[in-house]
Amino acid sequence: MRKPIIAGNWKMHKTTLEAINLVNALKRELYNLENVDIVVCPPFTLLNEISEIIQESNIGLGGQDLFWEGEGAFTGEVSAKMLKDVGCSYVIIGHSERRKYFGETDETVNKKLRAALKEELIPIVCIGESLEQREEGKTFDIVKEQIVQGFKDLSAEEILKVIIAYEPIWAIGTGRTATPEQAEEVHRFIRQQISEIYNEEIASLIRIQYGGSVKVENIEELIKQEDIDGALVGGASLEADSFVEIVKRVNQ
Ligand code: 13P
Repeated sequence: MRKPIIAGNWKMHKTTLEAINLVNALKRELYNLENVDIVVCPPFTLLNEISEIIQESNIGLGGQDLFWEGEGAFTGEVSAKMLKDVGCSYVIIGHSERRKYFGETDETVNKKLRAALKEELIPIVCIGESLEQREEGKTFDIVKEQIVQGFKDLSAEEILKVIIAYEPIWAIGTGRTATPEQAEEVHRFIRQQISEIYNEEIASLIRIQYGGSVKVENIEELIKQEDIDGALVGGASLEADSFVEIVKRVNQ
């Protein structure tokens, strides 16, 4: 049985005070939920503060990115060890915004993935096609390529620690969610690919989140799908009310 996981990707939002208010509200509202893993991924500047607030709560902490080197002259970058040090258990890798604006590729995803696993951070690896690729009927090819290249040479033991987030780019921040059927179709395909590369048992254990305009109104239909094991939530994770409600509906 796969435990669902809801993660909030705050992207480049929130000052310290705003973040403290949000996370205190989450702590208050979500403290007794046990059927769902809950994670928040704030910007780097807020990790320390939030880490202290959520200590001994059921809310986990994640970074939004990391660099693959352990340390050195890499201005502006943050290592896996630094994330771990500040209290993170998770890290998002290869988000489509990183791929689009910062030139990340499946190759850099693979390097970051290894760096995260080495420090025992749980990687949330984002994959997904653009609108153009979907319209050209290339969704499965793109997703397959991202899996094959991104997870290249990962052992069975390693892949079991990974969470995959299927985020169709055309559904991110657009209000245009994939229908539950569209999402499920790709999730099932992803699980098949994992089964082919590794085996059926591993495929049945790995968690696959959906991301892209997830909100209170659509979470229930999405989570009902057999191969959807949670959500990576952007916009709706920035307000306590909507994030709390999404998590509660999944917990039920
Ligand atoms: P939205 O929920 O704002 O569409 O963002 C999704 C996302 O990119 C989460 O990583």
